[in-house]
Amino acid sequence: MIRPRRLRSSYQMREMVAETTLLPQHLIQPVFVREGLTGTREIAGMPGVLQHTEESYLDYLEELVVAKVPSVMFFAVPELRDELGSEAYNPDGILTRVVRSTRERFGDSLVIIADLCLDEFTSHGHCGVLDNNGVVDNDATLELYCKMAEVLSEAGAHMLGTSGMMDGQVGAIRKSLDSADHVDVGILAYAAKYASAFYGPFRNAVESELDGDRKTYQQDYRNRKESLREVELDIEQGADIVMVKPAMSYLDIVADVAKNSSVPVAAYVVSGEYAMVEAAAAAGLIDRLPVIFEMLYSVRRAGAQIICTYWALEIAREIESRKF
Ligand code: PBG
Repeated sequence: MIRPRRLRSSYQMREMVAETTLLPQHLIQPVFVREGLTGTREIAGMPGVLQHTEESYLDYLEELVVAKVPSVMFFAVPELRDELGSEAYNPDGILTRVVRSTRERFGDSLVIIADLCLDEFTSHGHCGVLDNNGVVDNDATLELYCKMAEVLSEAGAHMLGTSGMMDGQVGAIRKSLDSADHVDVGILAYAAKYASAFYGPFRNAVESELDGDRKTYQQDYRNRKESLREVELDIEQGADIVMVKPAMSYLDIVADVAKNSSVPVAAYVVSGEYAMVEAAAAAGLIDRLPVIFEMLYSVRRAGAQIICTYWALEIAREIESRKF
């Protein structure tokens, strides 16, 4: 008789035939730094995730290095916001300062990714600037993205995480980086990014209050083929890595993109996905760590090489401690 159970009969047998791995090297840790904060502050809805001060995040990064998490993705929360998101491309703004200090202290021992988007910096909370009708103006936004790319690269970012979903953003930024001698700075393109209610707790993390929604620029979750188009365009325009976001309700997209992409694929397990697991675990409804592992493995199994997750540091430590 054919018995699939034979290959499940012992721990070592299962290890031998396991198809999917999850290692610290696969993880990116998002980090929030808040301007003007005097002590760290836990983010509402995201237990265990902190808004860091301009000092505390550096110690946290040491922990990432020790745990062999290779990469950090920075989000900054500025004190001042305006219509044009000026602090985003202020050469001495909070995000730029954070990138600069990190590069000075850590050099190449962490891959420093800076979020490249205006939403943390605009008073209206949109990812770009608005035209006279209150609609996000794609091409005017691209100019500001290029300025932002320039200051973040100057500060020492290794990669820029283009999360704004403006058409042509990867090409415009690539061109401006190349002409400013930043040929080595890479682009992690949020290529397939859906307008999602799972970003809810992130708003608390960056204290951004959005009027309306992002449906005119982020993708409609009823669509699947569109992601391949977005990914294709971003690769054509010079993306070094493409990312799918969110991850858990979008594993079909991760699988499609993984099958079709000629560059490495990342997936972002977002704030709402994190919050649901933490809340269910805190209520005693699920067994926390096994659920987290199962989720992260499923993202790897779907085909993502890299996972951006708020659990990166903890899970990297956990993986190391389970080795024998
Ligand atoms: C936009 C951005 C968002 C997230 C990352 N970058 C918010 C949005 O698009 O509404 C969400 C991340 C998360 O929910 O964990 N710069």
